[in-house]
Amino acid sequence: MITKVMTDVVKNHRIVVTKHGAPDVLQMIEEDLPEPKRGEVRVQVLAAGVSAYDLMFRQSGRLPGTPKSPFTLGEDIVGVVDAVGEGVTALSPGQTVAAATFALGLGGGYTEYLCLPADELVPVPAGVDPAEAVCVVVNYLTAHMAMHRVAGVRRGERVLVHGAAGGVGSALLDLGRLAGLEMFGTASSYNHELVSALRATPIDYRKEDFVKRSHSLTGDGVDVVFDHIGGAGQLWRSYKALGRNGRLVWFGVAATKKSGLRVIPLTLLTVGLLKLLPGSKHLLLTPDLSKEKAWYLETLAELLGLLAAGKLKPVVTARIPLAEAACAHELLERDGYAGKVVLVTQRGGQNHV
Ligand SMILES: NC(=O)c1ccc[n+]([C@@H]2O[C@H](COP(=O)([O-])OP(=O)(O)OC[C@H]3O[C@@H](n4cnc5c(N)ncnc54)[C@H](OP(=O)(O)O)[C@@H]3O)[C@@H](O)[C@H]2O)c1
Repeated sequence: MITKVMTDVVKNHRIVVTKHGAPDVLQMIEEDLPEPKRGEVRVQVLAAGVSAYDLMFRQSGRLPGTPKSPFTLGEDIVGVVDAVGEGVTALSPGQTVAAATFALGLGGGYTEYLCLPADELVPVPAGVDPAEAVCVVVNYLTAHMAMHRVAGVRRGERVLVHGAAGGVGSALLDLGRLAGLEMFGTASSYNHELVSALRATPIDYRKEDFVKRSHSLTGDGVDVVFDHIGGAGQLWRSYKALGRNGRLVWFGVAATKKSGLRVIPLTLLTVGLLKLLPGSKHLLLTPDLSKEKAWYLETLAELLGLLAAGKLKPVVTARIPLAEAACAHELLERDGYAGKVVLVTQRGGQNHV
């Protein structure tokens, strides 16, 4: 009898970064289920996103704000409410929800169960694939912020999207299609089919000069460049790709993947210089999503509604079991993938690639 009671106890399995280093520092631990405090709910995770940031935080403790190991990565999740804490009335067990894990600091999503403030969760409409929904959380919110709130794009404008086949880049193209933009996207040749399918003209940034190509495609330069690649040379060239009154939106440093963290100070210096340049072109920065709670809740609900209506088509590269988080990181560290890599728990279903 005692044995039966013990095997019935549900445990949580969570991936921790045991120390900074290669993907094999990601290890699964078993622990008691977390209990929701007042105002929180416990969520049983179905899908957790893997991002370029996760790789940076795993590799090095030198990035500002990186927690001391052991810590858990994962900035976006979709799951089912499993228990509610005192004072929570808006959500009930069984409801599917999506969230960015802002409240936990840097991450927390690579887990089977976690507790989050109820007022940071957004209901997911019935019938939506959890892996597709998790793409919407950070990638589409970032893309929406850059495209609509920061750049304020207008129908028919010509935009250049860098890293166009990546997680955020493919989200920009998906939203750009709905916004009626004329789009160009930099990507490696192995991703050009995808970029074309997302209704953009692909530019091979490895072989072509994207400044010349943007000017030859448009005559006078693009209206907006979305640059989350960073690096001094890259940002100057993005600025040069703009036409009169053009806007350069900078919001990331994917270049760290090839050039390492040393690219960050040079990027920040270049951003500062470009902001000071006189003339008709503008450099714009995106605000921190975690400080935009009302916008986050409203926009995430809107995006999930578009997804449920079949109007968004997130690119899910791979669904990898949570226990194999290290393989997911290895996949991101190689070239040749596109879209978003998603970790799935046993309940979230597995379709290993
Ligand atoms: N501000 C925010 O709130 C926020 C939120 C999320 C992400 N971000 C930023 O966005 C970055 C990208 O995130 P992600 O999840 O989209 O990463 P990702 O899925 O790894 O995509 C990055 C893409 O960059 C492309 N790339 C690499 N070097 C390039 C270059 N020199 N020129 C053009 N493309 C290049 C790669 O394309 P190919 O394989 O085709 O070469 C890859 O598809 C992150 O590193 C982060 O800095 C910012």
